[in-house]
Amino acid sequence: MRNKTILITGANSGLGRVSAETLADKGAEVLLVCRTKKKADATRDQISAKTGNSNLHAYSADLSAMSDVRSLAEKILRNHPRLDVLLNNAGVLLGDRFDTVDGYETTFATNHLAYFLLTRLLIDRLKESAPARIINVSSMVHAWGSIDFDDLFMKKNYRSLQAYYQSKLANVMFTYALARRLQGTRVTVNCLHPGVVDTRFGREGSLLYKVSKAIVRPFFYINAERGAQTQIHLTESADIEELTGRYFVKKRAVKSAKSSYRVEDQERLWKLSEALCDLPHWQNP
Ligand SMILES: NC(=O)c1ccc[n+]([C@@H]2O[C@H](COP(=O)([O-])OP(=O)(O)OC[C@H]3O[C@@H](n4cnc5c(N)ncnc54)[C@H](OP(=O)(O)O)[C@@H]3O)[C@@H](O)[C@H]2O)c1
Repeated sequence: MRNKTILITGANSGLGRVSAETLADKGAEVLLVCRTKKKADATRDQISAKTGNSNLHAYSADLSAMSDVRSLAEKILRNHPRLDVLLNNAGVLLGDRFDTVDGYETTFATNHLAYFLLTRLLIDRLKESAPARIINVSSMVHAWGSIDFDDLFMKKNYRSLQAYYQSKLANVMFTYALARRLQGTRVTVNCLHPGVVDTRFGREGSLLYKVSKAIVRPFFYINAERGAQTQIHLTESADIEELTGRYFVKKRAVKSAKSSYRVEDQERLWKLSEALCDLPHWQNP
C-alpha cells in the first residue's frame, strides 16, 4: 500500500477506523475524514502512534451538509495530487427525522448524497490517478428498501429503518450507474455489505432498534476487525483490479437485490441526486 493515497470517510469509528488503521499499518497515505476537527486530529494522532505512519492527514466535514462536502473536496484537490482509493464509508441510522442545513432528510443526505457528491467532485483526480478505485459501503438491508421517488425525504411518513434501507439501496444503484459512466477509465467502483458488525452504529436509532440490537448482539454480531475485511480487500486486492460495478459480501462478488438492477430507476435517482447536489448532468453512456 506504499505510494497509495486513500481517503476514508467516517475514519474515527467502527469499520472506517479499522480500515484506516490497517491501511496505515501497510504504509498507505491515509486521508482521514471525520465529523469534527477534534475527532480527525485525535484519530490521526492515535493511528500514527500505533502504526508509526506519519503520512496521515486529518480532515473534518459534516457530511450531511453539502457545503461541507464541497469544501472538503476543495481541500483534498488542493493538497493531494493523487487519489488512488475513495472509500465512502460514513453512515448513520436515525430514530427520528431531522432536516439538514440544506433541508434534506439527514439519513439520505449523509448515506447517499455525500457519497454521490464527494465522488463527483473527486472523479477527475481519481481518473488522473488511474488505476483507481471507489468503494461504497452499503448493506444487505438494501434488499428491504425501495426508493420513494415521490417523497425521498419521507416528509409524509418517516420510518427510521425504511429511511436507512432506502439510503443503502441508493448506494448500490449509484455504484451501478457510476460503473457504466466509468467504462474505459480504469477507475472501478464497487459496493459491499460488511456483515452485521458490532460497532457504535445505530446509537442514534429508535429505542426499539437499540433494544433489538442488544438482544441479538451476542449471537449474530461480528467484531469490527472482521467486518472491515471486505472493504480492505476491495481497497488493496490485485485480484479485483478490473472488476467494477459489483456488490461484495465476504470478499466475493454476489448478486444484489433485484430492485437495485433497474436501470431506469438508477438513472432517475442519478438525475435527482445531481439536482439535489447542484451538479451538471453526466449522461448515461
Ligand atoms: N455495523 C453494521 O452492522 C453495518 C452493517 C451494514 C452496513 N454498515 C455500514 O457501514 C458503514 C460504517 O458504519 P459502522 O458500523 O462503522 O458505524 P460507526 O461506528 O457508527 O461509524 C460511522 C462513521 O460515520 C461517521 N458519520 C456519520 N454521520 C456523519 C456526518 N454527518 N459527517 C461525518 N461523519 C459522519 C461517524 O462519525 P461520528 O463518530 O462523529 O458519529 C462514524 O465515524 C456505514 O455506512 C453503515 O451503513 C454497517
